[in-house]
Amino acid sequence: RLWALFHVLSPSLCHSFLQHKLCVPLFSSHNLNKSVYEVGEEVEYTCRPGFIPNNGQRKYTCLPTGKWPLNTLLCLPKRCPTIGPLPNGKIDFVDLHYQTRCSCYSSNNLTLKLLFPCAFPAVTCAPPSLPEFSVLSYRRSKPGNVSHFLDTITFECVPPLALIGNETATCMANGNWSSIPECRVVTCPTPTGIENGFFEFVVRRTYHYNESVSFACQPNYVLEGPKHSRCEKTGNWSTKPTCKGPCKIPVKKAVVLYNGEKKRVQNDLKDGVQHGETVSFFCKNKEKSCAYTVPVPCVDGNLTLPACFKERGFFSSLVKKDPSDMKPCEDQE
Ligand SMILES: *[C@@H]1O[C@H](CO)[C@@H](O)[C@H](O)[C@H]1NC(C)=O
Ligand SMILES: *[C@@H]1O[C@H](CO)[C@@H](O)[C@H](O)[C@H]1NC(C)=O
Ligand SMILES: *[C@@H]1O[C@H](CO)[C@@H](O)[C@H](O)[C@H]1NC(C)=O
Ligand SMILES: *[C@@H]1O[C@H](CO)[C@@H](O)[C@H](O)[C@H]1NC(C)=O
Ligand SMILES: *[C@@H]1O[C@H](CO)[C@@H](O)[C@H](O)[C@H]1NC(C)=O
Ligand SMILES: *[C@@H]1O[C@H](CO)[C@@H](O)[C@H](O)[C@H]1NC(C)=O
Ligand SMILES: *[C@@H]1O[C@H](CO)[C@@H](O)[C@H](O)[C@H]1NC(C)=O
Ligand SMILES: *[C@@H]1O[C@H](CO)[C@@H](O)[C@H](O)[C@H]1NC(C)=O
Repeated sequence: RLWALFHVLSPSLCHSFLQHKLCVPLFSSHNLNKSVYEVGEEVEYTCRPGFIPNNGQRKYTCLPTGKWPLNTLLCLPKRCPTIGPLPNGKIDFVDLHYQTRCSCYSSNNLTLKLLFPCAFPAVTCAPPSLPEFSVLSYRRSKPGNVSHFLDTITFECVPPLALIGNETATCMANGNWSSIPECRVVTCPTPTGIENGFFEFVVRRTYHYNESVSFACQPNYVLEGPKHSRCEKTGNWSTKPTCKGPCKIPVKKAVVLYNGEKKRVQNDLKDGVQHGETVSFFCKNKEKSCAYTVPVPCVDGNLTLPACFKERGFFSSLVKKDPSDMKPCEDQE
């Protein structure tokens, strides 16, 4: 709650003046246009526009001591006049701090009142009424055991129950919580398997909310996506991973670059490469008689040879240098 204390008149700051005592007002107000006041003179304080007097005295008399009595006037910012339930409307808080402004809109998009100093209704929300030993519990997002307007609380359900509804509730202007969720039993059916993969553990018939199963892939297959699938509030399983297949290299004989090293396809890469790996093929630049490399990836069983790559026949491999043995081109094409 932001109480706006506009006038705080501390008596110790009053002045004594000349031989007879005078009072000096410390705060200006539109009806104060003197700089000093005689003993017995009266001032009347008002609240600044946008603020309303809430409490305390407005009139003060300069005391024989040359001091003002303790100022007790409390000015509070005016509330948005429609801050309570606003049928078909909304309250747009631009900023929630003292002296900032809020606007109230009607549902026909016409601004009812614009730029009122924001004030919070002095409401508190009672703790949500939950049965003793409830499966639903909550914690306040702010320390303390009282909830004020716009404070929030967060709910939790005792596992394995699933929280259905909004996890957070806001203390509303009418002193009620915006919503209270419930805890329900949620089960998911036996999960289905994935292609080229398997469950890491034995699978049960039913699972409760937030229980998970984990997957692995057959040898040479690569797991993509989350390793675990979780039983969700909807009773469905969350996205499962997929197993991506290895690639055979579609040439009989060639020297390629694999993990930065030259490898003979026919000897070293007979089993192909895994999904996500890259193989670089050597291509020849005839004019400059040099060779350059072109990397191609293995994508789920597919590896496409670069267009410049020529597989060598028996004859040419006898009489000509393999591109992998040629000098590298200066700037690769
Ligand atoms: C303060 O000044 C206004 C004009 O600025 C004048 O009308 C009013 O009488 C003055 N009040 C006092 C208490 O002197
Ligand atoms: C309010 O304005 C929005 C867009 O500016 C429009 O979609 C909506 O229909 C308006 N509502 C009314 C009641 O005029
Ligand atoms: C709330 O907290 C205050 C101190 O923080 C304590 O004095 C008071 O008894 C508490 N009230 C309840 C209902 O727990
Ligand atoms: C949950 O309630 C809060 C207000 O407490 C609201 O801002 C939020 O949009 C709601 N979330 C959902 C998912 O409805
Ligand atoms: C607050 O909630 C209670 C119970 O849900 C309801 O009876 C009451 O009308 C609500 N108060 C307001 C002001 O909406
Ligand atoms: C779901 O389970 C994970 C652990 O597997 C846990 O960290 C998380 O807090 C649980 N979520 C809920 C809402 O119970
Ligand atoms: C969850 O399962 C239900 C059937 O139980 C289905 O209708 C719904 O589309 C599923 N939702 C998602 C997000 O997969
Ligand atoms: C792999 O190739 C097959 C057949 O040529 C094609 O249907 C599939 O979309 C390709 N997959 C990828 C990931 O490119």
